[in-house]
Amino acid sequence: MQDVDTTALSDDTPIGRAAQAAVEALGRATEALPRPARTRVMVVANQKGGVGKTTSTVNLAASLAMQGARVLVVDLDPQGNASTALGIDHHAEVPSIYDVLVEGKPLADVVQPVVDVEGLFCCPATIDLAGAEIELVSLVARESRLQRAIEAYEQPLDYILIDCPPSLGLLTVNAMVAGREVLIPIQCEYYALEGLGQLLRNVDLVRAHLNPHLHVSTILLTMYDARTRLASQVAEEVRTHFADEVLKTSIPRSVRVSEAPSYGQTVLTYDPSSTGALSYLEAAKEIALRGAEAEARAADVQFTADPGNPGVYQQQPRRMAEGLVHDAAAAQHSTMEGNR
Ligand SMILES: Nc1ncnc2c1ncn2[C@@H]1O[C@H](COP(=O)(O)OP(=O)(O)OP(=O)(O)O)[C@@H](O)[C@H]1O
Ligand SMILES: [Mg+2]
Repeated sequence: MQDVDTTALSDDTPIGRAAQAAVEALGRATEALPRPARTRVMVVANQKGGVGKTTSTVNLAASLAMQGARVLVVDLDPQGNASTALGIDHHAEVPSIYDVLVEGKPLADVVQPVVDVEGLFCCPATIDLAGAEIELVSLVARESRLQRAIEAYEQPLDYILIDCPPSLGLLTVNAMVAGREVLIPIQCEYYALEGLGQLLRNVDLVRAHLNPHLHVSTILLTMYDARTRLASQVAEEVRTHFADEVLKTSIPRSVRVSEAPSYGQTVLTYDPSSTGALSYLEAAKEIALRGAEAEARAADVQFTADPGNPGVYQQQPRRMAEGLVHDAAAAQHSTMEGNR
């Protein structure tokens, strides 16, 4: 955590309060999270358009990177919105994910660092990708070209987040073959659950035929408007259906979140003290802790945060930990699925 003296900031004026919040947000952003033992490849998918896939991909990626992780965003949408939001040039001549998928170019040749966020990288998408769905059809191993490219990429990474287009075509299938985890953003509105069945069936199909590890690990509620009854009803319904997968943190509807991409920025750098930025930081933390807990469970060790020491996590053999750790703390994590 940064060593900043916050006592000097007065919080009894609007500017003082904003400065205080920004310092606290930055403090949180630099607090290290547990890093996964192996790269977690997360597929951000929902064939429904405009539900917050891209916004969540770039802001979660920035949040994870600002909390100490090395993160790659793969823009797999011909719209190139994730590239735009990360300030990455993606005009037609820029080497991109199209060259990787169709031409077999190494991922290392197209990945670019994101300015302003250390540890964050982006593989951009250009408009060429619009033709890739059709061009891929006739290629060898058309469903596993992204997986092969990722496997051959030798840079150490903690997370790869893949931003999918709003369809269930070959691009999304490539992402599902490359990843282990699916992260589904759900917009808190009336038709939220429509089409979800089809997405889940696709996940099942890919798991059965192409990638036995694939599972829905995370659901994130987006554009939550606490003032409307509809939003809370939708949130409640999603939590009932997917109790283990839904993150406790939901992302509020916030103007700052929607403004950030037009400045080529994530909300984390555009307005670090906004509710949107804080929510994404919190959601990223949940994702990291759930993953660490799932890893620890698989290795039969208990994973606990040290309450007196923020940012410090301990692993102990499960039996020993069960004797020591307060029941409530253990129960808090007992419903988590993470990497099954
Ligand atoms: N929390 C939020 N508050 C306000 N606006 C938001 C929020 N999240 C996303 N938006 C806005 O909603 C719109 C859709 O978001 P986004 O582009 O992330 O969705 P998407 O699922 O990636 O869309 P597509 O299916 O077209 O790829 C964008 O204009 C974005 O700025
Ligand atoms: Mg998008």
